[in-house]
Amino acid sequence: MSQALGGRHDKPGRMDESEQLKQVEPGQVRIAEPGCHQRGIEQQQWCIGGGDNRLTLADRLGCPVAVTQPAAGMAGMDRGQGQSSAGHIHRDRTELERRARAGQAVDRGASPVQRQSMTNPARNALIARLPKAELHLHIEGSLEPELLFALAQRNGVSIPFDSVEAVRAAYSFSNLQDFLDIYYQGMSVLLTEQDFYDLTWAYLERAADDNVRHVEIFFDPQGHTERGVAFDTVVDGIERALKQGEAELGISYRLIMCFLRHLSEDEAFATLEQALPHLHRIHGVGLDSSEVGHPPAKFQRVFAKARELGLHVTAHAGEEGPPEYVHEALDLLEVERIDHGNRALEDAALVQRIAEEGLTLTVCPLSNLRLCVIGDIAESPVRRMLDLSLKATVNSDDPAYFGGYINDNFRAIADALDLSEAEIVKLVENSFTGSFLPMADQIQHLAEIAEVAGGR
Ligand code: HPA
Ligand code: ZN
Repeated sequence: MSQALGGRHDKPGRMDESEQLKQVEPGQVRIAEPGCHQRGIEQQQWCIGGGDNRLTLADRLGCPVAVTQPAAGMAGMDRGQGQSSAGHIHRDRTELERRARAGQAVDRGASPVQRQSMTNPARNALIARLPKAELHLHIEGSLEPELLFALAQRNGVSIPFDSVEAVRAAYSFSNLQDFLDIYYQGMSVLLTEQDFYDLTWAYLERAADDNVRHVEIFFDPQGHTERGVAFDTVVDGIERALKQGEAELGISYRLIMCFLRHLSEDEAFATLEQALPHLHRIHGVGLDSSEVGHPPAKFQRVFAKARELGLHVTAHAGEEGPPEYVHEALDLLEVERIDHGNRALEDAALVQRIAEEGLTLTVCPLSNLRLCVIGDIAESPVRRMLDLSLKATVNSDDPAYFGGYINDNFRAIADALDLSEAEIVKLVENSFTGSFLPMADQIQHLAEIAEVAGGR
């Protein structure tokens, strides 16, 4: 299969011991985010360890929610009746179950969003009114607990929680891997075209409330095909909602297929092969999942092929991984923008290059906080990026898991970083000029921003 795309090119990912997941040191307390220090050793008994690439995706997916009955009209499912998507998995307790049993209902007090968003009504009103593009949004990360419950019921998938509140309480993470374990498990309720439509439509309606006019949505096909859900089922459902969103909500879109970087290069090539009949409706490729230990170099050839096919290219880099990964994303993958890019700030030469080349960084403030990439929202890299004239944008990443949509992210940093109105305007301008929209469309959006900002 991968031969048609240029053959097999397995190349082990470099693993720099010192760059293994940024585990929280014992005794290290991060005041702003209880999830950053409250677990750790205990959770590793049940979770796949950070950067551990020995377990397959099926292992990950098998953990949480066993399919107890075959879902009616389970389009694209080719597994046997009642068989869990990974019934061969031995782990007897899943991360979701563990959290449910632990009753992990941590009283977190006012969320950062709640704490921060009441301080400047005029600024918040401007944020609400400004048109904006969202460039970093994983559609599977917009699966709200309410929809998770509804889909579990519709599809006969059992989940180890008895209330939406209990699910939300379990969304407390120490690092990226900790989140990803739950994120992949949550996906297991997504089985039919209608499920993917419902998921995407719910996000679009919510985005419209925040005055989002353009979205560039990531999806993770490997998280679904590994469970027996057909590639077409996923894309059909997402695209149906996106088309409807364009027609009814006035939200334009691009669809970006991500490769899961903890999986092999061969598997990425196989995924690209599956996408070939859909290239008229997939606009770009991205790279996500466990960053440390899976450098961009691992996917150099598959990205070259994607570029050859005319696809846009972007990659998560410098979220937890070192600045070197950002260099590699630029040099080897030839990405058009960088998703996150926080740790690029550690490298002065890299900063200079990003500034000179006008590269867009898709920053996700509440995600950074919830995954302990930063210890406090005031540490968001957006402040330094703006000061360094880097082209930062604000995005929600996985809003259902990180406690806020795009305007929540804007409000949180606006207050914590004391952003001026001009800086907020700059951030939304960047979201359009950093998008894959044609120049004419970008100019139109910039004109509307100027109109809204001028009238403030
Ligand atoms: N980082 C890496 N992979 C992801 C993320 C993220 O923030 N969200 C969903 N997959
Ligand atoms: Zn992301």
